[in-house]
Amino acid sequence: MAIYNLGSINADYFYHVPHLPGPGETLAATSMSRGLGGKGANMSVAAARAGAHTAHIGAVGGDGKWAIDRMTEFGVDTRHITTLTDTPMGQALIYVDDAGENSIVLLNGANFQIPKQTIASALSEASPGDTLLMQNETLSQLETAKMARSLDLYIAYAAAPFDAAAVTAALPYLDFLILNEVEAAQLEEATGKTPEALGVTDVIITLGANGARWIHSGTARDFPAMPVTPVDTTGAGDTFTGYILAARDRGLPMEQCIALAMRAGALMVTRQGTADVIPDLKDVDEARF
Ligand code: RIB
Ligand code: NA
Repeated sequence: MAIYNLGSINADYFYHVPHLPGPGETLAATSMSRGLGGKGANMSVAAARAGAHTAHIGAVGGDGKWAIDRMTEFGVDTRHITTLTDTPMGQALIYVDDAGENSIVLLNGANFQIPKQTIASALSEASPGDTLLMQNETLSQLETAKMARSLDLYIAYAAAPFDAAAVTAALPYLDFLILNEVEAAQLEEATGKTPEALGVTDVIITLGANGARWIHSGTARDFPAMPVTPVDTTGAGDTFTGYILAARDRGLPMEQCIALAMRAGALMVTRQGTADVIPDLKDVDEARF
């Protein structure tokens, strides 16, 4: 089976700072680096490294060839990434502090101009039971979910960055929803419903250092996190999501998917960077926590 991921592709510009800057503050960075990122690209790379056939649906600008090349190197099927010459690729300015915490400023760029034709032609290759994955760094999630429903795909949504209207509209189409604690609270406020009552078969709430909660058909179960010293939490949630869906696509039961994804996410927290450093299955298997 396969995963089709409608998602962003960003150039991530990392600045290491002693603490996250406050209003009006000028701060010297101790180092800087550029890498491949975007919640979409991170999840595609994670799913591919976890062994799933993963086709990314997206767009870059004329400045994005390197990003497509890198995704291809990491095993992602990049045939459905369009290059738009008159717009820049997505960018993220990421500040990472000494505790591994981050704050991010996004430029959507080409991610907000993915042609509808690109999405339709990618999904026309999908078979029933394949997965559609989406996040909120693109547009067209609702239309794409509707299209995927008519094709009998398994529909998964990582609701980040949080957008109450987009997530609420997509809810009736979802099989799988993944949120962090803050997003879960925001969704509860927007819908007036607890995660148990959303009507989505599988809901995962990531709890950072406290692990993750899996709500299956309304019943919750908690999974503890691996103890790690954070270096850079950026991309850890995306890695977790890509790993869960790849493992599910390979037919593993959800408990095992979550356990594997917890290990991948924990390892990612110990690594500086995003898509470029997402661990493969062998790294995850060999990791000792
Ligand atoms: O979730 C991490 C990602 O968020 C980064 O790679 C950055 O591009 C932003 O989209
Ligand atoms: Na990281």
